[in-house]
Amino acid sequence: MNKSDKIYVAGHRGMVGSAIIRVLKGQGCQNIITHTHSELDLTNQQKVDEFFSKEKPNQVYLAAAKVGGIFANNTYPADFIYQNLMIEANVIHSAFKSGVKKLLFLGSSCIYPKLANQPMREDALLSGYLETTNEPYAIAKIAGIKLCESYNRQYGNTHGIDYRSVMPTNLYGAGDSYHLENSHVIPALIRRFHEAKINNEEKVVVWGSGKPKREFIHVDDMASASVHVMNLKKAIYDENTSEMCSHINVGTGEELSIAELAELLKKVIGFDGEIEFNSSMPDGSMRKLMDSSKLNGLGWAPKIKLKKGLTLTYQNYLQELQNF
Ligand SMILES: NC(=O)c1ccc[n+]([C@@H]2O[C@H](COP(=O)([O-])OP(=O)(O)OC[C@H]3O[C@@H](n4cnc5c(N)ncnc54)[C@H](OP(=O)(O)O)[C@@H]3O)[C@@H](O)[C@H]2O)c1
Repeated sequence: MNKSDKIYVAGHRGMVGSAIIRVLKGQGCQNIITHTHSELDLTNQQKVDEFFSKEKPNQVYLAAAKVGGIFANNTYPADFIYQNLMIEANVIHSAFKSGVKKLLFLGSSCIYPKLANQPMREDALLSGYLETTNEPYAIAKIAGIKLCESYNRQYGNTHGIDYRSVMPTNLYGAGDSYHLENSHVIPALIRRFHEAKINNEEKVVVWGSGKPKREFIHVDDMASASVHVMNLKKAIYDENTSEMCSHINVGTGEELSIAELAELLKKVIGFDGEIEFNSSMPDGSMRKLMDSSKLNGLGWAPKIKLKKGLTLTYQNYLQELQNF
């Protein structure tokens, strides 16, 4: 990586964007540009175009997105598909027009079919029906991958562009959202267990049956994987991907049930009561494990084990409560 490159991190106040900035700064990058959502709404095509033609960054990390858990996805499907499609189309097209050669798009493991073989390999994309609860979000994320691929296929040779995509499994860590209804499972459970502990409650109700299995990766590991993939030599990236299957999975390869996760968080947080499962809430897919062997073969592996990551995240949460 050229440390003087001008790097635009879209979504820098989000969980992943802020972690990517920490990694880039840690590696000595000083020319990082950012804009908050209110300064630059990435769904606004004209504003995005003006921003890119003025700034002309060398690299872009596209970590801005409308993100949320099952409840938010089910309740606001129009927002999820519209905003994500607009953000991706605007950023990728304007980046191309302004001469950006390197871009990394962040997708999600929900791009894979509901019944994909486990662990899910990159080539499972578009091989079956999606999980319905977050289908609109997943369709937008698939469109983001296909935007990158299509610009590479049409303009890669003539304009030297190299747009890549990474598909993280479920993320957790510093900077997560603890919103009661819109948050993902780990921050939602941290908040519920913590509040139950403080209020001496007898039980915590966990949404769903507790049976689905999930894989989680700490956001600092995800950020380091993103920078690693962005900086792989083009010949190596191309050797390991294909024109129309160009994305790379980012996971730990380890899974546990929601019930096991709840038990682990109960211990980390120090809650003494019972755990009850509310099976009337949707479970989503029963199993979602990524096959990250491609990325491992490309010289990257996660460093933060789940128990340590959850302990760090609970400390971050307590810190946030103090600062509030
Ligand atoms: N979190 C996960 O578990 C997870 C899992 C897999 C993949 N991912 C992917 O990783 C990426 C980053 O996710 P995250 O967890 O970091 O999400 P996040 O914490 O919600 O951050 C997203 C960021 O994007 C910004 N943003 C949203 N809409 C925008 C707009 N129209 N214009 C400008 N900025 C906008 C948000 O700003 P405001 O907050 O001000 O709106 C926020 O700073 C996303 O592509 C997501 O799909 C996340």
